[in-house]
Amino acid sequence: MRNLVIATKNRGKLREIKEILSDIPFSIISVEDINPGMDIVIEETGKTYEENALIKARKVCELTGEISMADDSGLEVFYLGGTPGVHTSRFGGEKATDSEKNQKILKMLEGVPFEERKARFVCAIAVVYPGGEHFVVRGTCNGYINLKPEGSHGFGYDPIFYLPEYGMTTAQMNPEDKHKISHRGKALRLAAEELKKRESE
Ligand code: IMP
Repeated sequence: MRNLVIATKNRGKLREIKEILSDIPFSIISVEDINPGMDIVIEETGKTYEENALIKARKVCELTGEISMADDSGLEVFYLGGTPGVHTSRFGGEKATDSEKNQKILKMLEGVPFEERKARFVCAIAVVYPGGEHFVVRGTCNGYINLKPEGSHGFGYDPIFYLPEYGMTTAQMNPEDKHKISHRGKALRLAAEELKKRESE
């Protein structure tokens, strides 16, 4: 079976990706698995999630010589013109905790009524083949910024991301339910379909 290298240092994300991509004909490994101790620093200089995902996947493909996958995601708050968007991972500063970042968004939306607190999560996933061939897919998940943090599952902005259809934040959902509707879950399933299609061609 061929390897598919995932460009992430985040063990939790790797586990999630392995769960969602369980039926594809690849061995899913991380850069760490190929080269323990290898620390790849990649500047996210793209203007879009797609560009950033592609920059990361290209770099890892170049370094490992294997088919490589990378993702880039973010939160867009419509009332704030799409902020923090493509800058989400740097929003609030390198040292800010998730809770501080959540408070920052809540503060920026102070006094804004619930109906005007629409937001979405976006995730782009890029796959690069050693020959240079590549594809990029995108998944989104629409919701609202809650009036206060609630729930303890997930990470990042999950405690303030409210889904009206479920009557709870993504931090109050169990992880399997979140994967079914999340931006990353959707993008990963699209990537899985594309990978399988290309393998069978
Ligand atoms: P990354 O590009 O996947 O590292 O995501 C950038 C940032 O977006 C993360 O550090 C989180 O703050 C936020 N984010 C992305 N996906 C999620 C999610 O599923 N839940 C909560 N926050 C997320």
